[in-house]
Amino acid sequence: MISVTGISKSFGDKKVLDDISFSVEDGEIFGLLGPSGAGKTTLIRVLTGQLRFEEGEAMVMGKRVTQLTGSDKKQFGVMMDDFGLYERLSCYQNLRVFADIFGVSDAAIREVLSEVKLQDAEKKAVSKLSKGMKERLRLARALLSRPKVLFLDEPTSGLDPQTSSEIHEIIKKRKDAGTIIFLTTHNMTEAEKLCDHLVLLNEGHIVESGAPKELCLRYDHQKRIEVEKKDGEVISMEVDPKSVDTTAEKIADLLRSGHLETIHSKEPNLETVFMELTGRELEV
Ligand SMILES: Nc1ncnc2c1ncn2[C@@H]1O[C@H](COP(=O)(O)OP(=O)(O)OP(=O)(O)O)[C@@H](O)[C@H]1O
Ligand SMILES: [Mg+2]
Repeated sequence: MISVTGISKSFGDKKVLDDISFSVEDGEIFGLLGPSGAGKTTLIRVLTGQLRFEEGEAMVMGKRVTQLTGSDKKQFGVMMDDFGLYERLSCYQNLRVFADIFGVSDAAIREVLSEVKLQDAEKKAVSKLSKGMKERLRLARALLSRPKVLFLDEPTSGLDPQTSSEIHEIIKKRKDAGTIIFLTTHNMTEAEKLCDHLVLLNEGHIVESGAPKELCLRYDHQKRIEVEKKDGEVISMEVDPKSVDTTAEKIADLLRSGHLETIHSKEPNLETVFMELTGRELEV
């Protein structure tokens, strides 16, 4: 459905995408995970035909992205920061503007408003909406034409956990209805919960890819044990084969002395995987 081969893109002297290749299969939620400046938005702009690039090839739904026509683009739903809303118009009126472009019925507008739980706010002006409501309206606009492919650029960035998980549910339902979802995030919890396949992007390079669980297992050597002493001190210990005897001895000492309060193992997560690969944190 989406295939990207050797894409490179520069702004002036600065290469912001460097030899990017991956493919997105039917029926999956594909996530591009990377910190600020990694090149996530740039890649979405390339894939949606908004931005030219120097090298490589990208195909979406069997077409080169450089040759997408207006009617091809109508099959995409795009949610990006710079696609603003009309502040003085109501939720309904905002969607009406796009419905006219897409030839979408009134019934479809009401359906999508209730899908994002804005049915009671349809007459409210955008300027009076909360941040979370605005984000849901932007999502509604992307969903309006029942697109085959949804491109979502950081769909929950800056939102509270409750609104984020509502947005996750909407995205999952569209996936179940057969829509391909391509999203970007710098939030590893979101990536873990939502995505079937991930590409980890750093400074324009792919540093890893795979299913979230698979990626964490690949870096399982990072597994650690954390013990908390009764005085509140937390000690983190390695459990790789080299250090296992020392670690076991330290724990045994703590047990004997009666100072041990809790003990649990810390599995690697996407944040630790990213840190090992790049030396950088995801959320900066
Ligand atoms: N139009 C532009 N002109 C020049 N440089 C640009 C332009 N757009 C992006 N860049 C640069 O390209 C790099 C990647 O930017 P991009 O917006 O794709 O990152 P991102 O991963 O989306 O970051 P964020 O998480 O902050 O949204 C950055 O160094 C940015 O400064
Ligand atoms: Mg961005």
